[in-house]
Amino acid sequence: MSKTIKKIGVLTSGGDSPGMNAAIRSVVRTCAYHNIGCVGIYRGYQGMIEGDFKELGPRSVNNIINKGGTFLKSARSQEFRTPEGRKLAHENLVKEGIDALIVIGGDGSFTGGLIFNTEYDFPVIGIPGTIDNDIYGTSHTLGYDTALNTVVEVIDKIRDTASSHNRLFLVEVMGRDAGHIALNAGIGAGAEEILIPEEDLGLERLLESLKKSKTTGKTSSIVVIAEGDKTGKNVFELKDYVESNFPEYDVRVSVLGHMQRGGAPSCFDRVLASRLGVKAVESILEGKSNLMVGLLNDKIELTPLEQAIKGHTEINKELLRVSDIMSI
Ligand code: F6P
Repeated sequence: MSKTIKKIGVLTSGGDSPGMNAAIRSVVRTCAYHNIGCVGIYRGYQGMIEGDFKELGPRSVNNIINKGGTFLKSARSQEFRTPEGRKLAHENLVKEGIDALIVIGGDGSFTGGLIFNTEYDFPVIGIPGTIDNDIYGTSHTLGYDTALNTVVEVIDKIRDTASSHNRLFLVEVMGRDAGHIALNAGIGAGAEEILIPEEDLGLERLLESLKKSKTTGKTSSIVVIAEGDKTGKNVFELKDYVESNFPEYDVRVSVLGHMQRGGAPSCFDRVLASRLGVKAVESILEGKSNLMVGLLNDKIELTPLEQAIKGHTEINKELLRVSDIMSI
């Protein structure tokens, strides 16, 4: 039987992403709407272990819908990986009167939540927050849309200098295990070639494509590379490789890095965060647990946390083909 929920704890964990603040705001205000308490847990699971808590009301989350990052701060807690750490965390939650947990983060954060639930039968609901968009059970994770827009904006600027100097730019974007940012931002920014972790297109193909670019009259080129791509070479080694095969190419490397995780969330991410927060709180109030809220066919749906963690997000093959055709 599910217990009566009087107070919900909310935390952000793992890599931050734009829209996390908007999601916290939504959780806090939905709790207030339903007349239950809400406690912000600082620095993710580490703050749970250290009892770093603060009661939050609707006015505590004023003016944050437009802010990147997470005001609750985020951490990757090693201590929470231990049974001792989780025991301390549980004791603190009980002391604070927190009855359920909303975890905003990626699959690592959800794994922590699931283990915690198994050990302490503590209700947990996940909200997917990562720019990588690699969580099963949602078409969009929080921050992904903003990151795409950031990357496209930056590559547009790189294009200006690429075309002024007739250069080839290799642009590395985030995505340790997933190519969603590279593929979508690559198409959006008009990249000649896109390298992603899910498909090994091979170095030969890259050379072929660059050769074709030259012969068809292109004077500058942009290649977008996900950090986890499968060529076996990092972006600087790729530069050397291209230059040794095509000495006529003037190659430059741009590693976009953490700028992709910052900045004001897009309208899409703000709306998504607001919807996910409402559903997360109301799911807990309905006695649900071990689920992730996500966006599927423009509806907010629930997916078992275990599936969200283990499920595989497929790369859209149609996009690979579109990219091929566009770079003719
Ligand atoms: O998980 C999101 C992500 O942006 C990855 O694409 C990237 O490899 C990683 O975070 C970088 O994380 P950190 O902040 O630990 O360097």
